[in-house]
Amino acid sequence: MARVGQIGLGYWGKNLVRNFDDLSELAWLCDSDEEHLQELARRYPHAQATQDFDRLLADDTLDAIVIATPVPTHFELARQALEAGKHVFVEKPPAMRAAEMEELVRLAEERRRVLMPGHLLLYHPGVRKLKELVDSGALGEVLCVYGNRQNLGKIRKDENALWSLGVHDLSVILYLVGEEPDVAVAHGNAFLTDGVEDVVFCYLRFPSGKIAHMHLSWLDPQKMRRLTVVGREKMAVFDDMELERKVTIYEKAPWEPAGTYGEWRTRTGDIFSPKIPNDEPLRLECEHFLALVARGPDGHVEARDGLTVVRALDRLNQSLRRGPDG
Ligand SMILES: NC(=O)c1ccc[n+]([C@@H]2O[C@H](COP(=O)([O-])OP(=O)(O)OC[C@H]3O[C@@H](n4cnc5c(N)ncnc54)[C@H](O)[C@@H]3O)[C@@H](O)[C@H]2O)c1
Repeated sequence: MARVGQIGLGYWGKNLVRNFDDLSELAWLCDSDEEHLQELARRYPHAQATQDFDRLLADDTLDAIVIATPVPTHFELARQALEAGKHVFVEKPPAMRAAEMEELVRLAEERRRVLMPGHLLLYHPGVRKLKELVDSGALGEVLCVYGNRQNLGKIRKDENALWSLGVHDLSVILYLVGEEPDVAVAHGNAFLTDGVEDVVFCYLRFPSGKIAHMHLSWLDPQKMRRLTVVGREKMAVFDDMELERKVTIYEKAPWEPAGTYGEWRTRTGDIFSPKIPNDEPLRLECEHFLALVARGPDGHVEARDGLTVVRALDRLNQSLRRGPDG
């Protein structure tokens, strides 16, 4: 069984610790905040607790390190862990610049270590269903994909809506489309805190001609967690706010009847929802990481996919910084 240590024991870190304690040998707990550390040290007395990350790096019996600290710290901590020969699970995004993520991927390849970013939604059975629909051709040629991640709150002051909300949808859109965008444009505005955009609209265009859009906002009347895929034959929606009908398939499409000489009409048929397993995405994600640790990095697929996400994020961020006239 893999021996795992975790740095970052805050809101999200607690969920990761719970899973890694169930699925592996939880050997180390690390946090710079004494209170957070002691709270979890009491709950998991069999793990060693420390504020000193070097102690995890120096433990030769430790196989893997899980990083759940704030985003700006990810790159440096992941770099140190890989250099110490550890497998690394790092919350999304592992780096804020494409060049930094490239360095992490290169290190993981050189050291033959797993580098897995925590793109939770990729382990959601509903998203897996969407991928199956896209890959099997059930929707016909995919024309466009768009994500809505909106709510009133939580209003952040340190990272904008692109960094805070966009990583989730971006990882899923790139996973579904399977291409890197050749155009990545973002517009937004900081209404409440200088320099921190509360509302961001993103546009992506892919070499195949597919297009994608993301609406990211914490200033919205409705809570939405939705992804729509428009195919030439059918359309599908993944709605994470739904309890039962997470995925809905619409037999709706453009239709060019024979003999009408290029006149487009639309076709409307059944609407149905396939059964989606109720498995916890976080558990599936942790299990996947441990399976990779057990059998080796497997072509570094997760690390390379993570690089594609950071690259697109970096470009969207630069576009946002340049502004609409840039
Ligand atoms: N996958 C998801 O759905 C999801 C959801 C929420 C958060 N996250 C990610 O999880 C990460 C943590 O978010 P959070 O909401 O738990 O934040 P948080 O602020 O609640 O927790 C961060 C913890 O890291 C500790 N910390 C900060 N810097 C440190 C350092 N240099 N060394 C050691 N400890 C340090 C803090 O003391 C704190 O306990 C972020 O990357 C965030 O994007 C992912």
